[in-house]
Amino acid sequence: MENINWSNLPFGYMKTNYNVRCYYRDGKWGKLEISSEETINIHIAATCLHYGQQSFEGLKAFYGKDGKIRIFRWEENAKRMRDSARGILMPDVPDELFKEAMLKVVELNREFLPPQESGASLYFRPLLIGTGAQVGVKAADEYMFLMFVTPVGPYFKAGFKPVKMLITREYDRAAPLGTGRYKVGGNYAASLASIKKAHDEGFANVIYLDARTKQYIDECGPANFFAIKDNTYITPKSESILPSITNMSLITLAEDMGMKTERRPVHIDELPSFEEVGACGTAAVISPIGMIVDADKEVTMEYGMEKAGPVSEKLYNKLRAIQYGEEKDIHNWVTVI
Ligand SMILES: Cc1ncc(COP(=O)(O)O)c(C=O)c1O
Repeated sequence: MENINWSNLPFGYMKTNYNVRCYYRDGKWGKLEISSEETINIHIAATCLHYGQQSFEGLKAFYGKDGKIRIFRWEENAKRMRDSARGILMPDVPDELFKEAMLKVVELNREFLPPQESGASLYFRPLLIGTGAQVGVKAADEYMFLMFVTPVGPYFKAGFKPVKMLITREYDRAAPLGTGRYKVGGNYAASLASIKKAHDEGFANVIYLDARTKQYIDECGPANFFAIKDNTYITPKSESILPSITNMSLITLAEDMGMKTERRPVHIDELPSFEEVGACGTAAVISPIGMIVDADKEVTMEYGMEKAGPVSEKLYNKLRAIQYGEEKDIHNWVTVI
């Protein structure tokens, strides 16, 4: 693939050779199929189109200096997809099917794995959709599971540099007893207008507050929030945020580094007291936050726009080193293929 500019890749879609698909009919999954089509043909009354009965995942494979390909914690993505499926009445995708699809799609698109030195990676997008026709609001009886890959660069365009975040009370992403903890499309539709507002005003993303009281931090656009204070890694506990696999991993790494960790409600009044704050997720690993503007209260909190804080940088380097096979994988997070 000599004409791909690997080190300049956006976080976007690029056509690859193949994707894989599997159909759920009569209460069971069929055989995994290979397709070179970028389109799908579905019923006009499919539940995914009308009632948002769909779930997706996002995970990455990395080329190491040793020439090995590593996939990071796919079992957690498979588990989260199961949780999402149960949350909106879709059938489970078994681990074996998830793994088979993942290994097949990476094998079929090997030349799209970015070289190690580019810092880019291969992003997997598993998707589970209701394809059966319904007009009343109820779950479909047929489903499709598909997985495609696309090579991606860093999600946040500024790379590992601090970004500005906006707190807004104008929008909620998810309701307290809603679907915020599942990775389902409706949550992302609900976030589009607020993310656009943030982008239009020069911010990297939005910090959502809890919808009930607007007093506590939920998450940062498509990433979880964390803060560092007094050698402690602090991250919000909330029913309406997506359980981030990156966040879960950073908690473990922080403990390995001898830090304390706390998953608890994080009040907005605590923000000025934090030494470092950041957003974390598969796309960026960590996006350090240099400034938070609470537009309604006309308050600006500064953490330094010049460079990331030392703890964030250490955590970022440690996680990346595990993903690229440069540090021992003591927690068995990577699957080498
Ligand atoms: C809403 C939301 N929060 C958090 C995350 C981060 O999760 P993970 O670390 O598993 O990518 C994502 C991305 O998947 C997301 O979409």
